[in-house]
Amino acid sequence: MSDFKLDPDKEYTLVLVKPDGYRRGLTGKILARIEQKGYAIVALRIVQATDDDLHEHYVEHRGKHFFESMVDFMQSGKLVAAVIEGTRVVEGVRSLVGATNPTEAAPGTIRGDYGRDYDSGQIQNLVHAADSPSSAAREIKVWFPDAC
Ligand code: CDP
Ligand code: MG
Repeated sequence: MSDFKLDPDKEYTLVLVKPDGYRRGLTGKILARIEQKGYAIVALRIVQATDDDLHEHYVEHRGKHFFESMVDFMQSGKLVAAVIEGTRVVEGVRSLVGATNPTEAAPGTIRGDYGRDYDSGQIQNLVHAADSPSSAAREIKVWFPDAC
């Protein structure tokens, strides 16, 4: 699939451009913000997520009231998975992404600038970023099993 291999001396995070971001043609803009900050995209793929992918990716949310509708939303179209590299990249990309709710996310963040609430009730917030180095390592395995 890809010849990319993780370097144990480097820091990585895992980003998903969610189906709403891909559908709206925002993949380039979202990834550009991450590149403009100075981080490197080191692996990239466009994928239709399976149930197994999402149950593993969102393992900490299994059983929560929003889980099933969120999984449906994450399967509503293709998504773009990326591995991003750089010093303190996990916290740096979380800061670029902004708060979970797109109405509340600060202007200047990806979710704050491109996202809003809709009557569907399902949060559509364009992008996912791993919240810790250990989550990043687990999530990279989900989307890039050959990289590990
Ligand atoms: O994505 P982030 O880490 O900011 O938020 P989270 O609390 O880890 O939730 C993961 C994802 O679940 C969110 O980004 C939303 O897509 C979804 N979610 C939802 O649909 N409804 C909620 N009440 C909370 C989260
Ligand atoms: Mg999270």
